[in-house]
Amino acid sequence: MKEQLAKIRTEALAALESVKDAAALDELRVKYLGKKGELTAVLKQMGKLTAEERPAMGALANEVRAAVETAVDKASQKLEEAALELRLKAETVDVTVPGKAPKLGHKHPMYMALDEIKDIFVGMGFTVLDGPEIELASYNFDKLNAEEGHPSRDWSDTFYFDADSRVMLRSQTSPMQVRAMETMELPIRIIAPGRVYRKDEVDATHSPMFHQVEGMVIDKNVTMADLKGTLNLLAEQLFGKGTVTRFRPHHFPFTEPSCEMDVQCHKCGGAGCATCKGEGWIELLGAGMIHPHVLEMSGIDPNEWSGWAFGMGLERTAMRRFKIADLRLIFENDVRFLEQF
Ligand code: PHE
Repeated sequence: MKEQLAKIRTEALAALESVKDAAALDELRVKYLGKKGELTAVLKQMGKLTAEERPAMGALANEVRAAVETAVDKASQKLEEAALELRLKAETVDVTVPGKAPKLGHKHPMYMALDEIKDIFVGMGFTVLDGPEIELASYNFDKLNAEEGHPSRDWSDTFYFDADSRVMLRSQTSPMQVRAMETMELPIRIIAPGRVYRKDEVDATHSPMFHQVEGMVIDKNVTMADLKGTLNLLAEQLFGKGTVTRFRPHHFPFTEPSCEMDVQCHKCGGAGCATCKGEGWIELLGAGMIHPHVLEMSGIDPNEWSGWAFGMGLERTAMRRFKIADLRLIFENDVRFLEQF
């Protein structure tokens, strides 16, 4: 029996020493320490021993059990450590590998131009307003002196949301004149940039959606000279000193007198080219003195107050500012184009 116990100890310790994985370890544990294991089998024979032999054999059996248990624990710990080692190796992060730089975008050239425009006007004491693109026809037309049936509605009488034509995509930012007049204290100095919509076909200078910046001043003794002075200053600050502008008479229902302002073409310097369609000039904005009836409709006394307004095409301004030849480039979002700014 003594030899049996010694053999179990030697065999078990040797086997446990070289155990490879958790399943094999469990097998060994059952084999030696389990209820039907080898040690139990030996202990079952204790009955055959004499009373004198029994205590020494019992002590030896306990010693062997303890030794095997310790070896099982050690083997199990070794396996765990090896597994951890393996995982750490597999999951190693090499912090010295160069990273992938995230591609950062930047502001779109049209919004760069808009930021410059805002800065120029804020510097002159103007407030920047934001207005709805879905607008009441009464603000887009009626309160701007273009009531139902007015011929100027034809070109922009489109994109309605309802059968009785009360709600529409605004065709101009000019309704912001009315909104400002109705809600703000006098005197007023505002600009209001935003999207507008018209039934235009896409070409080098047109798009059914484009951007305008509306501007308006209402104060006492405001004249056309203030309008021209302010817009010439805008042109010089935006496009550089010595920028040549011209004002042509025009018609808008809500201004009287009305004009359009052109800047000399940046491409040809006035000689005429494809960008300016041979004209030498690029039309930038419509403007004029606010019609007394428009002031009146918004509750402002035209005998006391006067004002001027303008509406400029933002894409065209950005094109002139950054010497871009085709309007479509502004909307196509081709990074090869955008990365140049
Ligand atoms: N709203 C006009 C347009 O879209 C421009 C304009 C604005 C003209 C303000 C005069 C005054 O063409």
